Amino acid sequence: MDYPAPTRLTSPLLTLPDLAGRRAVVTGGASGLGLVTTRTFALQGADVIIGARDVTKAEAARAHLLAEHDLSAGKITVAELDLIDPDSIERFAGMAAGAPMDLLVLNAGISSVPLRHDRNGIESQFATNHLGHFALAARLLPSLEQGTDPRVVTVSSALYAAAKLDLEDLASSSRYSPGRAYNRSKLANVMFALELGRRLAESGSSVRSFAAHPGMARTPLHTTYPSVATRVMTRIIAGAIGREPGPADVGVLTAALHPDASPELFWGPTGSKTHPDAVGDWFKPVATDLGAAVSLWEVSERLTGTRIAM
Ligand SMILES: NC(=O)c1ccc[n+]([C@@H]2O[C@H](COP(=O)([O-])OP(=O)(O)OC[C@H]3O[C@@H](n4cnc5c(N)ncnc54)[C@H](OP(=O)(O)O)[C@@H]3O)[C@@H](O)[C@H]2O)c1
Repeated sequence: MDYPAPTRLTSPLLTLPDLAGRRAVVTGGASGLGLVTTRTFALQGADVIIGARDVTKAEAARAHLLAEHDLSAGKITVAELDLIDPDSIERFAGMAAGAPMDLLVLNAGISSVPLRHDRNGIESQFATNHLGHFALAARLLPSLEQGTDPRVVTVSSALYAAAKLDLEDLASSSRYSPGRAYNRSKLANVMFALELGRRLAESGSSVRSFAAHPGMARTPLHTTYPSVATRVMTRIIAGAIGREPGPADVGVLTAALHPDASPELFWGPTGSKTHPDAVGDWFKPVATDLGAAVSLWEVSERLTGTRIAM
């Protein structure tokens, strides 16, 4: 496949489109990067549904946003969504799928947590960050098909490039490394975004699939690492080179909203810490192996019991 040349878009946050009449879902939309995505979508006029694991916390974030920006109550809705629980995904999708949808941002994530498993025995970061989003996208795609310039944006990390997919050990039963498992889940995010895009294009769908990342962002994600040394080290790195969530979100917002963003590039921030440009870069070879992407897709269908119909 021929990919377009890497692209830099200057200050894309200064020219965001009007989103009046559009509907968006943001998973994990009440914290960190998800919260600023929710805020931007709502301020541009969209109606946003936050998929939240902790509904009480998310309702507080919603109330704060509405009050701070004088938004009407219907602009932002919170609904329970636990991406490691298939029943919760089903309930959430049933509620969100009632009308045409324009934007689906697969943002929620856990990072470098101790070894835990989902009900199928799959390691929890792969299950939450990838499988849960795979199942949710499958259920929401028919609503996106009815949307205007509909886009799915999967939030990954530049760390995907260091990962090995290792589909033979999804339980992480041999020598668990929290960081390696996180990187694998982020590789799965990127491969899913690309394979979804290929399948959508082949089927003639109007929905487009993008992958984006925030670089290093100062969010609560880095406070949950079990290792004190990792927490301290990450805080120092985030303080030195990280961005606040607002500017760090530029790649995600570009992928979601910019007319010139190509889904064949990986979108993230570049340049200024406070007013960054967005750069679309080539995906690394580890993410573009078609055979591996098809295997991941088939395993994901089997483990979630979902088929993405196109
Ligand atoms: N921060 C960075 O430097 C960085 C770098 C690269 C990539 N990313 C990616 O950016 C995305 C957003 O992370 P963030 O940095 O903004 O972290 P964050 O503030 O911790 O946000 C993560 C969100 O995911 C939600 N979540 C976690 N497990 C969930 C589950 N089982 N079901 C539903 N929601 C769940 C969290 O809900 P609760 O609040 O209820 O836990 C929270 O709202 C993640 O995909 C992450 O991998 C972040």
